[in-house]
Amino acid sequence: MEITVIVAAGSGSRFGSELPKQFLPLAGKPMLMHTIEAFRKALPSGKIILVLSPGMIPLWEDLCKTHGMQSPQIAEGGASRWESVKHAIEALKDDPASATVLVHDGARPLVSADLIKRVLAYARNTDGALPAVPVTDSIRKISENGVTSEAVDRSLYRAVQTPQAFSLWRLREAYSLPYDEAFTDDASVIAAAGFENIVLVEGSPENIKVTTPIDMVIAETILSANNPKVSCYK
Ligand code: C5P
Repeated sequence: MEITVIVAAGSGSRFGSELPKQFLPLAGKPMLMHTIEAFRKALPSGKIILVLSPGMIPLWEDLCKTHGMQSPQIAEGGASRWESVKHAIEALKDDPASATVLVHDGARPLVSADLIKRVLAYARNTDGALPAVPVTDSIRKISENGVTSEAVDRSLYRAVQTPQAFSLWRLREAYSLPYDEAFTDDASVIAAAGFENIVLVEGSPENIKVTTPIDMVIAETILSANNPKVSCYK
């Protein structure tokens, strides 16, 4: 059994718009609807929990009516991503411990069915799986004084994406531990609980996390290239 948790309770402060970015239009509908549809397409019989901040639920319900979309089950988000995931896990209290849970950022609307299935396949026989891509920029490590820095070998690093997949029982155990500021994703929470066999799966450069307005332009361009309205050739 597969369950997807889509976390979308962030305020999007780095984006700079009044309305959190996940509700802004992207290629004709709210960004979050693209994210949900990607999982419905990849896992038609899977269950989805959508995590929203309580204040945004009425707006989301209106958007669903306008766009004729049936909303997934909603859980209320918290003050941090970690807290939002924790609330979703609590909402799964009656689901089987053996279920595989994919946790995905609502702000990654370009995730493909292939990527979702790849992560899922690797999660079944390991402690967890997550997509990652090589780092293309040169990387420098800042020293403790915050002024000097040194070059590091970028081939040793990967940028990690979502969805990240784990069994529900491992998530329950890991998310029962106290919060740590180093938890920026779910794999770091799982690893802190002592689960070490976490595998990196080939991610996709298209699977961007929309964070600033330029990312919205990039996402719009990728979506229209993948679904051209006008064909140039007969
Ligand atoms: O802030 P960050 O970019 O790491 O957020 C990643 C994802 O986590 C976003 O989709 C955001 O909506 C979600 N999030 C959340 N609850 C929070 C903060 C972030 O669901 N309190």
